[in-house]
Amino acid sequence: MAEAENIQAKQAPKVATGDRAILPEGAKTIPVYVMGKRYEVPETLTIMKAMEFAGFKFIRGAGCRGGICGACPTVYRKAGDYKLFFGLACQTVVEPNMYLAQIPFYPANRATYKLEELSGDPEVIYALYPELFRCVACNLCTKACPMDVDVLGYISALKQGNIAKAAEISFDCIQCGLCASRCMGELPQYHIGQLARRIYAKYIQPKAEHLQKRVDDINAQKYDEVLKNLLAMDKENLEKIYINEREREPDLTPPGEWVPQDTQYL
Ligand code: FES
Repeated sequence: MAEAENIQAKQAPKVATGDRAILPEGAKTIPVYVMGKRYEVPETLTIMKAMEFAGFKFIRGAGCRGGICGACPTVYRKAGDYKLFFGLACQTVVEPNMYLAQIPFYPANRATYKLEELSGDPEVIYALYPELFRCVACNLCTKACPMDVDVLGYISALKQGNIAKAAEISFDCIQCGLCASRCMGELPQYHIGQLARRIYAKYIQPKAEHLQKRVDDINAQKYDEVLKNLLAMDKENLEKIYINEREREPDLTPPGEWVPQDTQYL
């Protein structure tokens, strides 16, 4: 029995660990160029995985690996194509003969402010980012956005004083900075959009009543006791209440219809 297990272990395929990609059996490889050097990488990988496969190690320029944090903007060209392409390294799948370069950080002016000292007046944004009016509406910012945000759309909305519209259009921005890298007017669009969203949330959007109720509950120490009990609990009991005996919302319940049996902390 032990001998059979030994043979099995010897025959088992070697599996790489950590961030190094595992080359699937029979995978086709394609050439890509990273900082001008050619590498053969599996055709199914994202740019990030392909670069790791090629031996690169991301110390900066990688974060969530899920298209959310904006840490991995990449510019590339394809052989024989004059166009410049943009993408997130963690989301974009490699193509043959891509010429890749990472832009993990792009220098852009970021205004200093205290949100609580501002107001919902667009003049506030104009004072902090007067370069807003250097926009020549060339739309290169929108073309560079890997999230398909209408960057020119929200910059134009702000020029017209419409903070709510700018906040809505820019909502999917992940602050990668590729828009600023292409801007003829040298705007830091992503910082301006972020300020618009902050001002919208603090001064323009109606307050969520249920959120205020919960904040009041917290301030009234409604949850102090239960938190203290949780912190004192051992792993076995935590697993019991959170995993094994936890009351769960049934799948596909219409929003707002399900209420747990124990409502004392709602
Ligand atoms: S690593 Fe976060 S968006 Fe790519």
